[in-house]
Amino acid sequence: MQDHQTSPVPQCPDLQSLIQIDKVHGSIYTDPQIYAQELRQIWQRTWVYVGHESEIPEPNDFIMKSIGPEPILMTRDRDGQIHLLHNRCPHRGNRVCDEHRGNARTFTCNYHGWSFGNDGNLRGYPFPSGYPDDKRKELGLGKVPRVASYRGFVFGSLAEDGPSLEEHLGGARAALDNLCDTSPEGEVEITAGFLQHKVMANWKFVLENETDGYHPAFTHASIFEVADSQIGSLYVDGSTAVTRYFGNGHAEVDLRPEFRKRDEPMSWFGTSAERLPDYTARMQAAYGAERARQIMIDGTPHIMIFPNLFIAEIQMFVIQPLSVDETVQHVTALQFKGAPDLNRRLRQQTMGSVGPAGFLLADDAEMYERSHAGVQDKSPEWVYLGRGTHRERTDENGYKIGEVTDEVPSRGMWQYYRALMEAV
Ligand code: FES
Ligand code: FE
Repeated sequence: MQDHQTSPVPQCPDLQSLIQIDKVHGSIYTDPQIYAQELRQIWQRTWVYVGHESEIPEPNDFIMKSIGPEPILMTRDRDGQIHLLHNRCPHRGNRVCDEHRGNARTFTCNYHGWSFGNDGNLRGYPFPSGYPDDKRKELGLGKVPRVASYRGFVFGSLAEDGPSLEEHLGGARAALDNLCDTSPEGEVEITAGFLQHKVMANWKFVLENETDGYHPAFTHASIFEVADSQIGSLYVDGSTAVTRYFGNGHAEVDLRPEFRKRDEPMSWFGTSAERLPDYTARMQAAYGAERARQIMIDGTPHIMIFPNLFIAEIQMFVIQPLSVDETVQHVTALQFKGAPDLNRRLRQQTMGSVGPAGFLLADDAEMYERSHAGVQDKSPEWVYLGRGTHRERTDENGYKIGEVTDEVPSRGMWQYYRALMEAV
């Protein structure tokens, strides 16, 4: 029989030794204790992207989202205010809502019939004489304590205090601004619906891969060839594109230097202004010819906003860990308000690249799963992140940058990750 008094208390691994500047230990992707600590220290503390305002445009709209593995109900109340609510009845813990989305003033728990407003407050319960006093003020749905949005992107933090969303986003805000400028009305719309891709791999393989500029030329060689795409040529030695680490875990692959060299509006999207006459006219009317031309040359960002929002030029991915070795990527085509002809092409390209028969995400998924299986082999024990250390430099804004194939983003993320994991 096990002696509980003398059995060792599990110690959390020493992150100081597992995360070094140019390498991390393989166990950091596979250790369930580390995953449990990530839930507490990262997913339940920092700002996490939840959803977009355009997904619940009308009063009383709601949609089911998540923070880490936990479902979170994003609602808009009758006054237009957005709430993030836990989907857990305060009575006996039942899930209160099992619809993915809809429009409702109230949510009624189907176990004993308690009903909640879409602001989370308890509205009423059957047979109230069973309680000696009114419980409506004291029992409601759990509310995510901090909710904030930036340019329509809604984030939640399960911590009562901490840096503001704007502070957290820091340099990544400019990328979201640039993204919104792609719309003649300055707004992104998340209206194309999501596909979900599940992989048997740790979420951090996904996180790191999003700004890994080293892999596309190899992992994605087949789709670039089949689609006769110029994208592969951006991710090679000698490309003027750069990797950039913004701090707070956020990083990007900045492809603008290459697109500016090409100097052709919409080449980032593999097309031309002439093929999108309606969009071009609307952009010129909104921003003036010169600014419109620049926006259309630069294209949209390729940025990973820590820990779960990836803007990938034409798509948006939301990373959701389900367990230490299961991760879902929710993916949708970006849509820009007032740009119907561009939006149609964005949906078509998204279906071709990350849809059910698309090559792009399937290629990445294969790499995530093979890496997750591989790191369980302990020889060698480390994952090496030293690419480009000797040529890493600082840009005019003080951000670390490197060549497009360099591992600047991963190195930055790991140092931030360690700081979050060790914070008291
Ligand atoms: Fe929800 Fe009882 S568990 S009303
Ligand atoms: Fe990829």
